[in-house]
Amino acid sequence: MYQEFTPEVLVLPTPKDVDRYAAGCVIAQINGKHDSVLTLPTGATPQGMYERLVQLFKQGQVDFSRVTTFNLDEYFPIPESHPASYAEYMKTHFFRHVNVPSSNIYLPNGQAESAHTEATRFDRLIQQRGPVDLAVLGIGPGKTCHIGFNERGSQVDSRTRYMPLDPQTREANAVFFKDPNEMPVGSITQGIRNILEAQRILLIAKGERKAWGIKRSLTCKPSSDVPASFLRFHPDVCFILDEGAAELLRSKYIALKK
Ligand code: F6R
Repeated sequence: MYQEFTPEVLVLPTPKDVDRYAAGCVIAQINGKHDSVLTLPTGATPQGMYERLVQLFKQGQVDFSRVTTFNLDEYFPIPESHPASYAEYMKTHFFRHVNVPSSNIYLPNGQAESAHTEATRFDRLIQQRGPVDLAVLGIGPGKTCHIGFNERGSQVDSRTRYMPLDPQTREANAVFFKDPNEMPVGSITQGIRNILEAQRILLIAKGERKAWGIKRSLTCKPSSDVPASFLRFHPDVCFILDEGAAELLRSKYIALKK
């Protein structure tokens, strides 16, 4: 049996406020512990957070030279150099602009021969270099409510593995591929257990299209039908939402503290 906790829920006026607040949390983590280990997301939602982190780095407000990063997931199979790979996303939005040493950057290898062997290798690395101090997550579109690419049906004790993508995920993410037929049908993702092993978790969500998933994640009984609901088994989670993503929550909490 898992103990259930109430996440902190922060509702901010605009998407930009979400970017700034989330970046501020990441910086506070690193400035408090220079050799922090982070789990990082990709997708549309965190782009503004990365932009802000790069800006703060250029202003000298943070030093990433001792930081280690693990990405949540990568498409499989996909060449690393594919413009829509998460390896390429991370270089474009973050790693090319800051000083995380390349030897401290870990993503699942989307072009490995065997997804299973690669997932096992990646999982072992997280366990060797962990525990993760801070995991930043987005939430999947529509009814998926995925975290990482833990689609519906994922178990609370799942670890890094191959995961076929939900049709709703494929539809939502097709926009990132010039030719939607090039979109892989699968991924390698950290499991729910990997995510829950982080010391602290931030989930960021923006816009009304995430409102249903946010409401379900915060209110339904934690279950593999709503993978993000498993976050309620962690004692230190903060949902950072804009007004759109929070619109179905009965009461809007502003800076609600535990
Ligand atoms: C990506 C990831 C996914 C995304 C989710 C939301 O690394 O882990 O869980 O966070 O699919 O994606 P966007 O932000 O594009 O709506």
